[in-house]
Amino acid sequence: MKRYFQAPGRINIIGEHTDYNDGYVLPAAIDRYVTLSIERTGRERIELSSAGREAISFREGEIEPAGNWGDYVKGIFHVLKSEKNVEFGGLSIEIESTVPEGAGLSSSAALEVATITALNEVFGLSLTDEERYRLSQRAENEFVGVKCGIMDQFASVMGRQDSTIFLDTVSMEYEYLPLELGAYSLVVFDSKVHHELLSGGYNSRREEAGKALEILGKRSYRDVSMVDLFTARSKMEDLYYRRAMHVVSENMRVLEVVKILVNSNYENLGRFLVQSHESLAYDYEVSCEEVDFTVDTLRNLNGVSGARMIGGGFGGSVLALCEKSEREKIVEFVRERYFEKFNIAMDAYEVRPSRGAGEIRE
Ligand code: GLA
Repeated sequence: MKRYFQAPGRINIIGEHTDYNDGYVLPAAIDRYVTLSIERTGRERIELSSAGREAISFREGEIEPAGNWGDYVKGIFHVLKSEKNVEFGGLSIEIESTVPEGAGLSSSAALEVATITALNEVFGLSLTDEERYRLSQRAENEFVGVKCGIMDQFASVMGRQDSTIFLDTVSMEYEYLPLELGAYSLVVFDSKVHHELLSGGYNSRREEAGKALEILGKRSYRDVSMVDLFTARSKMEDLYYRRAMHVVSENMRVLEVVKILVNSNYENLGRFLVQSHESLAYDYEVSCEEVDFTVDTLRNLNGVSGARMIGGGFGGSVLALCEKSEREKIVEFVRERYFEKFNIAMDAYEVRPSRGAGEIRE
């Protein structure tokens, strides 16, 4: 019997490149999903297929990365075998997705979480939510080789409709904050460019932020204040100073935005999005020309509260907070300007905070 599962992509309201720096994040799962069907076959191999891609199959005794899309799925099989000793037997898994790839919306985490959620149910593994997001992160860290933090897998498992999740990545305590945006809507502008190969830029930022912390003589960014940073400035190379500045200032912005959401005072939210973008662009240097152009175009428009890049960066998407009544005009205008400038047809669509991964029952 075929069973169906889905796992969402995510946006992040604010708190970018903070999750692996002992910081705070504010993601939300969105109404874009990786959906898969799974069926036992009685054959020897685990067979993966996904529309428009080469089919992949492997034996459960020989799970090796191959540098292609199947690694996110194989990585889950790999961690479940090593952690839980599961015997899978032959399986057929068919995958479909409405989470665009390379768009900063975590299509890879959605694929990992859809896979672990399906295997958890089909093989009765009784994994906790925490095991599902932790093991998915491990698959990505150890098998795929991207040293990502916990935000994406966490959001894909834990998402809740019309809410964002305020997560402390040190204690892993979290709180759902209702995201009832009233006259506003959240619009994603996908630049359709991706400048860095799989993990290069991301992993090097992670190292640089770690090195900056070492120079500051601290164990955790949780212990670094703005004053510490100013005091240390003269003994730090500019690059490391800027990396640390982003982390410390971004965490402060997350805490401010949480206050705004608690008080439903959305007028000011956009300002923090723009500040976050500038910090990511100039201090952390994870943006790019196309994404900066999109943010610059948006921030000067009537009906836009604010905008910023989301996700790992080096391309991908911009998240904008737009007045609903102006949304269509804004989208049309930005797409036109972007096409004139880069000759690329960008995608733009509204997203809604949605629930986390689970089985789809017909
Ligand atoms: C990617 C990673 C996350 C996080 C973001 C940047 O999406 O998977 O863990 O670090 O980049 O905030």
